[in-house]
Amino acid sequence: MTDSQVTAAQTPDTQTHVHAPAITGNEPQGDLCIRTLAMPADTNANGDIFGGWLLSQMDLGGGVFAGKVAKSRTVTVAIEAMNFRKAVYVGDLVSVHANLVRVGRTSITVHLEAWVLRRREQQSILVTDGNFTYVSIDEQGHPQPIQRDGATIST
Ligand SMILES: CC(C)(COP(=O)(O)OP(=O)(O)OC[C@H]1O[C@@H](n2cnc3c(N)ncnc32)[C@H](O)[C@@H]1OP(=O)(O)O)[C@@H](O)C(=O)NCCC(=O)NCCS
Repeated sequence: MTDSQVTAAQTPDTQTHVHAPAITGNEPQGDLCIRTLAMPADTNANGDIFGGWLLSQMDLGGGVFAGKVAKSRTVTVAIEAMNFRKAVYVGDLVSVHANLVRVGRTSITVHLEAWVLRRREQQSILVTDGNFTYVSIDEQGHPQPIQRDGATIST
């Protein structure tokens, strides 16, 4: 996470929805939070990788990221602005990258991107992206305020 991302997340107007950053580069940005190989068991009826599997990898990765920010258990409350840009194939190496978008009272919004490196290729390509919101919860599963250590939110 960069300093500018931390600053953006800590601006006083934490109630405002923030749109996902535009995709400007051809390299993944942000924290790598999960990397896995797309396997035959993850395919749909067409033989390509099932979108639900990819979504679940993103959700898992984002949950790890949000848990580090919140320093607590989190649950997914919303997925927005989801784009499926390219197909994913068996054998693709899938990497999920996270950028912090917003920290609210109990919620954290993370922009997640899944990039794949196909076999015999050198350049990763962006296949999906979206904004995932997680809520920090207590032992009873109720929302709880996110602890902020002074000015520092680090992953
Ligand atoms: C997440 C959950 C604990 C929230 O409980 P709740 O009583 O609705 O909590 P609140 O209304 O106080 O909302 C909590 C936070 O979530 C945010 N939120 C709630 N619904 C949201 C939505 N659809 N989109 C974005 N943020 C949302 C609220 O704005 C609030 O954020 P803030 O405190 O930072 O301002 C509850 O809805 C839940 O348990 N849902 C099921 C979660 C789950 O099982 N996820 C896995 C699904 S497969």
